[in-house]
Amino acid sequence: MIVCHCNFITHDEIRAAIRELRDADPYRVIIPGLVYHRLGKRGRCCGCFPHVIEMIIAENEGELVDSDVMPMQETG
Ligand code: FES
Repeated sequence: MIVCHCNFITHDEIRAAIRELRDADPYRVIIPGLVYHRLGKRGRCCGCFPHVIEMIIAENEGELVDSDVMPMQETG
C-alpha cells in the first residue's frame, strides 16, 4: 500500500526504515523526516506525515509489548 503518494513510498518501506532506525539506536526519537531521510526521500506536501507518526507509535508500542522492559518501581 502506498503511504506517500508524492514519493511513492509504501507502508512496508516505511515500517522497515522505522525498524532500522530503532535497531540502530533504541533511544533515538524517530520522526517522519528522519524516516524519509533514511529512505533517501524528503517530505513534499507532508500530508502523509500523520500516518507515518501513527506507524512510528504503533512500532514503539509493539516494541514495548515485546520487550523485557523493567516496570517502574514505586516510590514512597
Ligand atoms: S504524500 Fe508524502 S510528502 Fe506528500
